[in-house]
Amino acid sequence: MGAKNVNEVTEQTWKDEVFPEWGTWLNEEIDRTTVPSHKFMMWWLVNMGVWIKSDQQTNLAIDLWCGTGKTTHDKPDMSPRHQWSRLTGGRKIQPNLRNQPMVINPFAIHHLDALLVTHFHHDHIDMNVAAAVLQNTPDTVPFIGPKYVVQQWLDWGVPKDRCHVVKPGDVIKIKDIEIEATDSFDRSVLITDPDSKELPADSTVPDMDDRAVNFVIKTDAGTIYDAADSHYSAYFAKHGKDFNIDVALVAYGENPIGVQDKMTSVDVLRAAESLNTKVVIPLHWDVWSNMLGDPNEIEALWKLRRERFNYQFYPFLWLPGGRFTFPDDRTKLQYYHDRGFEDRYTHPINLPYKSFL
Ligand SMILES: [Fe+2]
Ligand SMILES: [Fe+2]
Repeated sequence: MGAKNVNEVTEQTWKDEVFPEWGTWLNEEIDRTTVPSHKFMMWWLVNMGVWIKSDQQTNLAIDLWCGTGKTTHDKPDMSPRHQWSRLTGGRKIQPNLRNQPMVINPFAIHHLDALLVTHFHHDHIDMNVAAAVLQNTPDTVPFIGPKYVVQQWLDWGVPKDRCHVVKPGDVIKIKDIEIEATDSFDRSVLITDPDSKELPADSTVPDMDDRAVNFVIKTDAGTIYDAADSHYSAYFAKHGKDFNIDVALVAYGENPIGVQDKMTSVDVLRAAESLNTKVVIPLHWDVWSNMLGDPNEIEALWKLRRERFNYQFYPFLWLPGGRFTFPDDRTKLQYYHDRGFEDRYTHPINLPYKSFL
């Protein structure tokens, strides 16, 4: 119950009333949706966070992160070991403010069959989410990720018997969904030190398989390829041969000068073509104030190139909190939220003059 009088208002009552901005709206929508046969549905949870629900009503959450970016100018410089220090030779903190509302309340999640995390960057793995899943979902819900992701969960106190380490080639069955881990191409995570681990020598190239995986999610209605924070790789073309991909999720963003991290618009098209997917969905572009991408650029380039290169795929421009249904949205280019008011004129209007209309 909110404050009724200005004298009752505090910073805490304001936060309790306003945060998370979407309350439990999206939790309710996911819970109350029954996915019809021969379809799967997904909801975008901001950044690379995605909820997948199959036609057997199996629920997966991948890279669900409910944190924030910079919240104050008063932060020390990056350490020399920070990935952006190593990459750019700079030390100033990046102004990466979170650009999206909190569209889901992790503590209102009750129906979940597995939590998957692709890599240990803290915009993909989240202690709040881990705690919420432990507190409010059955104790059979597994936490699935590569070695260093599991190490992070264990360091946070997630019970060992809940964790499943995966590496490329591993297959896990969650009810009707088959999850295969495969190679990541996330060069950024290769230069990121995991928390509380011995630091590898600067000249060594760490084992990617311990740090990050991509996921291939096979449902009865189609297959999702989650490229997580993979950079563009020529090896996408191999995955395009290995898997029969319907929808590919890729990390797109506008890299600051001197930074090589997210795929560019043309990389997204090249990745889609290589993966031989039917639909490509750019994610991650939305979240950081200093790396905001414009996915319209992808659509414009797709239109420019589709005849020349005989593109068979469609780009889908999504919005956080939005839903995607496969195969219904297979050729849909742009998402827009529910515009509402569908019950118009079910009651008499009440206006002094119809001329208002
Ligand atoms: Fe990352
Ligand atoms: Fe990321």
